[in-house]
Amino acid sequence: MGEIPFILGGVEATSRPTDFKYAQLRELFAQLGPGPVSVLDLGCGTCKAVEGALREHPNVSYVGVEQDAAALAQARRLIGDLPTVQLQEAFGEQFSGGTFDLVISLSVLEHVKYLDAFLETSVRAVRPGGTLMHRYDLGHALTPSTLGERLRVAVARRVPAAVPAARFTTSPDATAIVRRLGELGIVDLTVRQAQAPSLKAAMNRIDQSTPEGQRLAADVVALDARLWDELSPALKPEARDRLFPAIIVTGRRAG
Ligand SMILES: C[S@@+](CC[C@H](N)C(=O)[O-])C[C@H]1O[C@@H](n2cnc3c(N)ncnc32)[C@H](O)[C@@H]1O
Repeated sequence: MGEIPFILGGVEATSRPTDFKYAQLRELFAQLGPGPVSVLDLGCGTCKAVEGALREHPNVSYVGVEQDAAALAQARRLIGDLPTVQLQEAFGEQFSGGTFDLVISLSVLEHVKYLDAFLETSVRAVRPGGTLMHRYDLGHALTPSTLGERLRVAVARRVPAAVPAARFTTSPDATAIVRRLGELGIVDLTVRQAQAPSLKAAMNRIDQSTPEGQRLAADVVALDARLWDELSPALKPEARDRLFPAIIVTGRRAG
């Protein structure tokens, strides 16, 4: 693959952990405790975001579900060696493989065409008392990087039927998502926003394969969260979304 190996959890990892999602997952997996825990990741992509956290937490048994065969093949190359990992090719909304302590989706909801079915499946897959986290990005819709992306978002909003499920991109409404998750039995729902662009740019340069890098990354995540707490109440929605373009919805399935 030509990638430089990094040492994580005492073993070689092939993807360099440099982003917010990795820093957040390390924290989340640590909070789950040292005993056996199960995690379902809907829309796992290449598993780049989870590789490091999985190598550091061998107590986590992980199922990744991804609709894109090429991304899944890459995921198999990255983490297929881990005995605690299962990868399935499917749309998230088609999943029906039991319940999990933690169900996550990372940067996925903005690409999901059949959002209601996807949310329903995600809730059904959380064991009673377990945790659900959907983290998604507004960036494609707010600051499209190409004309193609701008067009895809515009068409998906106005004529969703015209965009295939595998190429869908939009800006999901957090209020509607929270309402639906509540109706489906998720309690203690919280919505936060994160990932101030300059902090993300800095994070992309922090090598989290070293203990100092991990401490620095945790400080960046904490600063980002503090900025959200302090600044967001006074911000208008558009400014808020530009300053914190990642939305994190979390809750617990009533048990
Ligand atoms: C931006 S990538 C994020 C991948 C990974 N979660 C990460 O954070 O690195 C979005 C992924 O969601 C997948 N996806 C989109 N809609 C999906 C659906 N309905 N079910 C499963 N995967 C889906 C895409 O194929 C893509 O791999």
